[in-house]
Parts: sequence; structure tokens; C-alpha cells
Amino acid sequence: MSQDMLALARTMRTRAYAPYSKYQVAAVVRAANGKLYAGTNVENIAYPVGHCAEVSALAAMIADGERRITEALVIGPEGDDLCTPCGACRQRLREFASDDLPIHVADPTGIKKTVTLGELFPMSFGPTILKK
Ligand code: THU
Repeated sequence: MSQDMLALARTMRTRAYAPYSKYQVAAVVRAANGKLYAGTNVENIAYPVGHCAEVSALAAMIADGERRITEALVIGPEGDDLCTPCGACRQRLREFASDDLPIHVADPTGIKKTVTLGELFPMSFGPTILKK
């Protein structure tokens, strides 16, 4: 059920700190314990120091003691161009999820597309590689 994720993401997105790009993003992840963790992008006057919404959401999950994501949602501004997770954030999600992770891509009007992490990020370098 992703309506709860969407409601949280909509609210969270209004809190994004994006004064430079004006591109407000929120990410919500559901962890294995069922709880939702959300965050926004946080930009900085020293541009490269800013970070994506996914970083904030994953940090909140890790700080709460969770290590596994079962569902994710990213929400950007309304428009034809969907806000899919950037390349670095695909790798960040991969750390805590497998290829079958559903990722909902949304804008304030609703979920526009649902894809798996494996579709977005095929043949990824995942955390199991070093455990073999
Ligand atoms: N952004 C995210 O928060 N997540 C993504 O996966 C894509 C990009 C943010 C970073 C920056 O603050 C703004 O969107 C414009 O690139």
C-alpha cells in the first residue's frame, strides 16, 4: 500500500531546502519493520555539498536501526519529466535493497510510474559481491 507513502512524501517535499535549483524533492522508504522514513534534498551555497532526498531518508532509517528497504517512493515537481532517483542514489538504494525493490516515481498529483530497482539500475554492484 503506497498511499501512506505518497501522503508523507507530499508533505515532506514542501520542506525541501532547494533555494538554488528550486527543484524540491522528497524520498520515502519503507523498512522491513514496516515503518516509513522520509527526507528531502538539502542544498548548499557550496553546490557540491548539497545532497539528495534519498540520502536524508536513508540516514533516518539507519539512525532508527533499520537496514532493509521493502518499498521506496521519490517525488519531484509536477511535469512531464519524472523525478527518478539519480545514479548515485540508485547505488545508495542498492545498498539496502535487492533488484526487486519497487520504486514509485511520483509528482504532487500522484504516483506516475512504478519500476523495480533492477529495471532502473541493471547489473549493479551490490553488497553481496564482497560476501562471496
Ligand atoms: N535530487 C534529489 O533529491 N534526488 C534525486 O534522485 C534527483 C535529484 C535533487 C538534488 C538537487 O537538490 C535537485 O534535485 C536538483 O538536481
